[in-house]
Amino acid sequence: LTEIIAPEERFQNFFKTFSEKGEYKYRQRLGQIAIDGLKSLVIDFDDLYESDRDLASKVLENPDEYLKYADKAIWAQMKIESPEYAEERKSFYARFRLLPATTALRAVGSQDLGKMKMIDGSLVRASTVKPFLTVAIFKCECENKIRIVQDGAFLKSPSECPNCRSKGPFEFIEKESTFINSQEIRIQEKPEDLPPGQLPRTIDVKLEEDLVDVARPGDRVTIIGVIRALQERIPGRGRLRTFELYTEANFVDVQGKEEEIVRISPEEEKRIQEISKDPMVYLKIMSSIAPSIYGYSDIKEAVMYLLFGGVHKILPDGIAIRGDSNMLIVGDPGTAKSQLLQYVARIAPRGIYTSGRGSTAAGLTAAVIREKSGGMALEAGAMVLADKGVCCIDEIEKMRPEDRVAIHEAMEQQTVSIAKGGIVATLNARASILAAANPALGRYNSYQTVTENISLPVTILSRFDLIFVLRDEPDKERDLRLAEHVLSLHKTGVPMTEPPVNPQLLRKYISYAKNIRPILTDEARKRIQDFYLAMRSSSEVKESPVAITPRQLEALVRLSEARARVALKKTVTVEDAGAIILLFTRSLEQVGIDLESGKIDIDIIMTGKPKSMRDKLQAVLSVILGIEKEKGIVKMEDLYDALEELEIGREEADKFIRQLKTDGAVYEPKPGFLRKS
Ligand SMILES: Nc1ncnc2c1ncn2[C@@H]1O[C@H](COP(=O)(O)OP(=O)(O)OP(=O)(O)O)[C@@H](O)[C@H]1O
Ligand SMILES: [Mg+2]
Ligand SMILES: [Zn+2]
Repeated sequence: LTEIIAPEERFQNFFKTFSEKGEYKYRQRLGQIAIDGLKSLVIDFDDLYESDRDLASKVLENPDEYLKYADKAIWAQMKIESPEYAEERKSFYARFRLLPATTALRAVGSQDLGKMKMIDGSLVRASTVKPFLTVAIFKCECENKIRIVQDGAFLKSPSECPNCRSKGPFEFIEKESTFINSQEIRIQEKPEDLPPGQLPRTIDVKLEEDLVDVARPGDRVTIIGVIRALQERIPGRGRLRTFELYTEANFVDVQGKEEEIVRISPEEEKRIQEISKDPMVYLKIMSSIAPSIYGYSDIKEAVMYLLFGGVHKILPDGIAIRGDSNMLIVGDPGTAKSQLLQYVARIAPRGIYTSGRGSTAAGLTAAVIREKSGGMALEAGAMVLADKGVCCIDEIEKMRPEDRVAIHEAMEQQTVSIAKGGIVATLNARASILAAANPALGRYNSYQTVTENISLPVTILSRFDLIFVLRDEPDKERDLRLAEHVLSLHKTGVPMTEPPVNPQLLRKYISYAKNIRPILTDEARKRIQDFYLAMRSSSEVKESPVAITPRQLEALVRLSEARARVALKKTVTVEDAGAIILLFTRSLEQVGIDLESGKIDIDIIMTGKPKSMRDKLQAVLSVILGIEKEKGIVKMEDLYDALEELEIGREEADKFIRQLKTDGAVYEPKPGFLRKS
């Protein structure tokens, strides 16, 4: 029977009769479209498949023909539901969602040409929206108007006037021609779909009409569309025999908005609950992180908190406080930094591993780039693609100057704003950052501060909740055990001890825990508050440079919440706060210890100089000023002598002078002399 009924009628039948829960689903949708003034009817593919299997497969096999039938059938049914709206709109689009199968982006090929497919990916690039000509009106010199329907990439003009047989020239009448909105986007394989060690592939997607601008760079999308090929050409040489694949979108489904959905079976849930009740749960999870890397318990503990994350809060006045932690590892070469980052990117939900240089034009944040066609496009960088996940940035000190500016906003506000080349946009970058850096001079120098050791400005450093330093110092005992660990790995391929929680389960555990929003108990709040106040008052200096900033206070809360999540607790207890304060202090000791006074001093992180050193710098500067006032120029020898009286030796004096020169406070007008800038 179905063979003899025209396809258009079969579509209309489906719209007319398909019912779900006692309602005519598509008749209702059509009524809503008329009310909302929309152009498209979204059809769940399953529904069509259920009511007319043959028609459904024809849509997939031969969309060029069958989508047109569906469009017409919508119009015909709209004539019944809302005749005025049908007249007003003249045409509608059938948009299909949820096809039975997803095609992997890297599997799309010539066999798919002309077929309708569903592809998942991250939106990495979006061009500006351009008007696209569909019907062109030309005017001949005899005043006759000629209508040319446009298809293909190039403007088609009339060959001859049907009225006077003139061969032109014809005037293009823009006002009377028909345009629709069009946009080109590029989607890229999602990191979790990527085979290990492969570069992500991309495919361009053409969007029209109401599909334009529904998704932004960084969004995860499912594209339903027809696979097409565009012949490649070399300007001035002609066309090639190769074609470039692209997709003509029929529908864009934006996921990105909610957390990644991880399926957890009842057995797995039971197992997760079991682990969470174990008194050794912290140790268990910690030692399941990168088991092939020996030692580094502080770092692994911190990474654990970073993976679980704190609670994202929106205050009543609309200000958002991030729940994501940022962490930095500064370390000597060959201390397994890259390995650790790669591991975390693999197990973290939505984890991305990138190097500071970035692997694309967009780098770490975002960029406006000029397309081949001459237009502008917005491209998402790694932090935008890691939205709602973890962005592992190796060799962060090598990031591009543009990223250095944009990363400030990304790390605190968790957005990336860009205004360039006519594109103004704010993209989400709600990611935790796990960054690694090499010391500026190759090896970490304990007699210098973190800022001196890596070439990152303090404004960026202060945005990390925790900073750790990995030094490759020979230590007989440790070296032996590391050697045993690494060598056993090379022999057997498996670590000496199996991780207590395997990576698949760990991933699910993290997703599961993220649904919990632990609340700070009064005791925990008090503990954090006491620590904060003690830190702040520990600096006895008169001008009292801030010893610890509210940023660290937030970090402590975030990390404590993360710790509660590890054990699936609904409250943050005083033990959580205590453990975090310990870890925090150890992190400060590694970077912030004031080697002069032996006291922890967050000033090093904030201003790049230990407090007592800053005092001495100030003293040295006043001596320089004094001598300059007296003699007009400061002779080095005079300065050394004067500083000797302040018990500052030659070697130390040189260090301070070097620092003052770097800061631009003094300069050397001629060798052996100084002057205040
Ligand atoms: N603690 C450790 N446990 C296991 N393996 C280690 C450890 N430290 C170093 N290694 C080994 O050393 C090698 C170098 O590691 P990796 O490349 O990650 O170092 P890196 O810190 O990134 O160095 P660079 O700063 O030069 O990039 C790796 O093969 C790693 O397995
Ligand atoms: Mg490395
Ligand atoms: Zn004419």
